[in-house]
Amino acid sequence: MNILAIETSCDDTCIAIINFSKNKHKVLSSIVSSQVELHRKYGGVYPALAKREHEKNLPLVLEKALKKAKYPKIDKVAVTIGPGLDPCLWAGVNFAKTLDCPIIPVNHIEGHLLVNNPKKFPAMALIVSGGHTQLILVKAIGKYKILGETRDDAAGECLDKVARILGLGYPGGEAIYKKAKLFKGKTTLSLPRPMINQKNYDFSFSGLKTSVLYSKVENKAEVCKEVQQAIIDVLIKKTIKAMKDYRIDTLILGGGVSANKELRKQFKKQVKNLIVPDPKFSTDNAVMIALAAYYKKPKKNIKPDANLRIC
Ligand code: KG4
Ligand code: ZN
Repeated sequence: MNILAIETSCDDTCIAIINFSKNKHKVLSSIVSSQVELHRKYGGVYPALAKREHEKNLPLVLEKALKKAKYPKIDKVAVTIGPGLDPCLWAGVNFAKTLDCPIIPVNHIEGHLLVNNPKKFPAMALIVSGGHTQLILVKAIGKYKILGETRDDAAGECLDKVARILGLGYPGGEAIYKKAKLFKGKTTLSLPRPMINQKNYDFSFSGLKTSVLYSKVENKAEVCKEVQQAIIDVLIKKTIKAMKDYRIDTLILGGGVSANKELRKQFKKQVKNLIVPDPKFSTDNAVMIALAAYYKKPKKNIKPDANLRIC
């Protein structure tokens, strides 16, 4: 069975074709057409513009994906219906409807979680992206409980905003990682670790950006190292606490921020069974949408929901 998946929840136009047979899957093609250059001058994603770009890109990306996969028969179409930017989600859903195939609606966060192809449950999942920071108890595929999430900015959003303050461009996560690597030694700067000692599993990252704004920045590399470490410290502390409280030893990491090498390294030291995607599948892609769709049935009258929750 072949699934063609479409992902347009933010600023990447993505289409992938995956072949599923028995318990195996093979990626026949995966195209990610980034709009980064376009949004760079705004320092972030501009939804109306992103929607127009998706509409322009989708037919071209489809042709590329089909060609790369050698024009296979498509049995089902999967599409992200949320969470994400409403106009962008509509672009994907409307395009899916033109393809004349049964359509499976997919939750973007579940895609980030299932791209890892987890097999052992219960597991804990930490999804860290530009739009979300959620700690999710995974009882089984399709059975989730959000234990905690950010009360303001997502971890990736914080990195993007700090990068903007420091003039490092957009998107910020990778730029901050690269700059942080240039700082050797111990930082003398001490940024807050918001909510780190609170008993709940929630996060808050908007204060960090404000602290950077008011700190006397002399060495940008040092600020990057410290802000990255502050985020990692909070994410690790809260995740480990949740895993202990629920007696779970498997952790699934996902979302754009999980591409961060320092974060992966530090989590690896703390967690026995760590499941992390190949960095190219950490950031938005359509393979993750096909993998999540595999467990679901097609539906009629599909509509996006910008605030869709995993449970
Ligand atoms: O999952 P994603 O591609 O899109 C959303 O669903 O939001 O995540 C994008 C986020 C951005 O905030 C970006 O700065 C961050 O992931 N990101 C990174 C890295 N690569 C992307 N953050 C830290 N280190 C990276 N290497
Ligand atoms: Zn994402």
